[in-house]
Amino acid sequence: MTTEEIINTKNEAIAQILKARSTSEVEELRIVYLGRNGKLTQLIKRLKELPSDKRKQVGILINEAKINLTGLLSSQKNRLSETVKQWFDPTIPGKKPKPGHLHLITQAISEISRTFEQIGFSRVRYPEVEWDWFAFGGLNMPKDHPARDEWETFFVEGPNHPKFGQMVLTPHTSSGQLREMQRVKTPPIRMINIAKCYRRQIDASHIPMFHQFEGLVIDKEISIVYLKGTLDFFAKNFFGDKRKTRLRPFHFQFTEPSFEVDITCGVCNGSGCKLCKGGWLELGGAGMVHPTVLKNGGLNPDIYSGFAFGWGVERTYMMKSGLSIPDIRLLYSSDLRFLKQF
Ligand code: PHE
Repeated sequence: MTTEEIINTKNEAIAQILKARSTSEVEELRIVYLGRNGKLTQLIKRLKELPSDKRKQVGILINEAKINLTGLLSSQKNRLSETVKQWFDPTIPGKKPKPGHLHLITQAISEISRTFEQIGFSRVRYPEVEWDWFAFGGLNMPKDHPARDEWETFFVEGPNHPKFGQMVLTPHTSSGQLREMQRVKTPPIRMINIAKCYRRQIDASHIPMFHQFEGLVIDKEISIVYLKGTLDFFAKNFFGDKRKTRLRPFHFQFTEPSFEVDITCGVCNGSGCKLCKGGWLELGGAGMVHPTVLKNGGLNPDIYSGFAFGWGVERTYMMKSGLSIPDIRLLYSSDLRFLKQF
């Protein structure tokens, strides 16, 4: 008996087992090779004819062949019996993958852009990693000014700009005001800048990365009337016909005068309820662009004037939809069970 004989028997068996078309054919082959008088069984029986020094080596070979064939026989049996069970009907319509949809905040951003585009604003984008000067210095907040504390800024390690100072992650979209003035050079400017903003804050109503949308209008003879008109247009278009806005005096370094903008509560229509308390909900900041900021943007404040406003996308959208999301961090948790609802 040679090792070749063993290998040939094994290969022949493998070829036949693979060709088998039914479980009973597989069973027949089992008997042919591994049955009491099977081909491989015969070889095992002849082992004792070999001289003892060869017996061990050949024994291992035969044993391996036996293990291989036993495994193949049983997997082939399983496969063939499953093929019978799993009858496939090609006429049944396929399962369609469910279409996805845009993230809630992406939907909000396009809705906000669309609303302002109707009255001639153009959407722009400016860097998220920005120089200090655009975010603070040029907006009338010199270094070490206490007003900066509000913005909980992330500073980026890197080279300082000789004129514009340190690198920061934009803590508000107002940095886009100076960029837009420098880009356009000669007004009119009607910009809507929507971008990611970063602040060092995290709790149920704050996240380190959120979105703001910033409006900036600059032209000759722009007064507060234009600001109020634009805000009312936005409130009616975005929130609904009956909504009104009001301006409350406030302070920002880069606008003068400055306001907080409120909108009538959608639940009680301004009469006061559990949600809003006094009938009004706070939208965010606004004001008339400070003359120093116009100068910093390269514009002459004796000729030009303008207004600006900047609000959080997440907040504004939650107010519109009446969604009560208990924790703003859910928006960015990527949990499909949450996201699928919108
Ligand atoms: N940038 C201000 C903030 O983040 C909001 C603002 C924008 C105020 C424009 C006035 C004018 O709070």
